[in-house]
Amino acid sequence: MEGKRVSDTRIVMAAQMNPEDANPAGNVHGGVIMKYVDTAAGAVAIRHARRIAVTASIDRLDFHHPVLVGNILILKASLNFVGRTSMEVGVRVEAENLLTGDVRHTASAYLTFVALDQTGKPAEVPPLILETDEDRRRNCEAIVRRKARLEERERERRERSELERTRPVGGKAVT
Ligand SMILES: CC(C)(COP(=O)(O)OP(=O)(O)OC[C@H]1O[C@@H](n2cnc3c(N)ncnc32)[C@H](O)[C@@H]1OP(=O)(O)O)[C@@H](O)C(=O)NCCC(=O)NCCS
Repeated sequence: MEGKRVSDTRIVMAAQMNPEDANPAGNVHGGVIMKYVDTAAGAVAIRHARRIAVTASIDRLDFHHPVLVGNILILKASLNFVGRTSMEVGVRVEAENLLTGDVRHTASAYLTFVALDQTGKPAEVPPLILETDEDRRRNCEAIVRRKARLEERERERRERSELERTRPVGGKAVT
């Protein structure tokens, strides 16, 4: 399969924040921002795979500053890492005050998407071509995150099967 460059799929998305996106004090709900983060990242993953891709996981999402009604939310999303069927997308969220021009870094997030075939099974995606030093730095950092994610999944799997093993038939688990 032919590789694709990070620059082939990177996107910038902008959306105006309106009263229905916020609480009565004018602060935009975190869930609204999360939806935009998922949408922007999903577009990048689907562009790379040119297949349906689903969100497999979202790493922690910290909000550094509030986003207010009237702000423009700017989302910059690009691929950090591509596995066999999974893709890690990094999203940087900024909020711009249109009247003052003040731009604040609101949040950053890493999301993993998995491409699916017609039957809903994970499908292979094109390899990622790293061109710049920044591409390579982000890729190295994503590999470390992926390793930690896989280790955590494996630990959870072991704990679940240990719980199943110690669960009396028809009863509750012995802890
Ligand atoms: C994501 C999903 C397709 C993975 O299916 P699976 O059978 O567990 O997949 P596998 O174990 O074969 O792993 C496939 C790839 O996904 C990655 N993956 C699976 N679960 C993951 C997770 N929770 N976080 C990060 N990566 C994950 C694996 O590392 C693997 O990557 P690779 O092929 O690049 O090495 C499946 O769990 C699913 O459909 N989840 C629901 C997704 C969804 O509906 N999202 C919308 C929000 S609810």
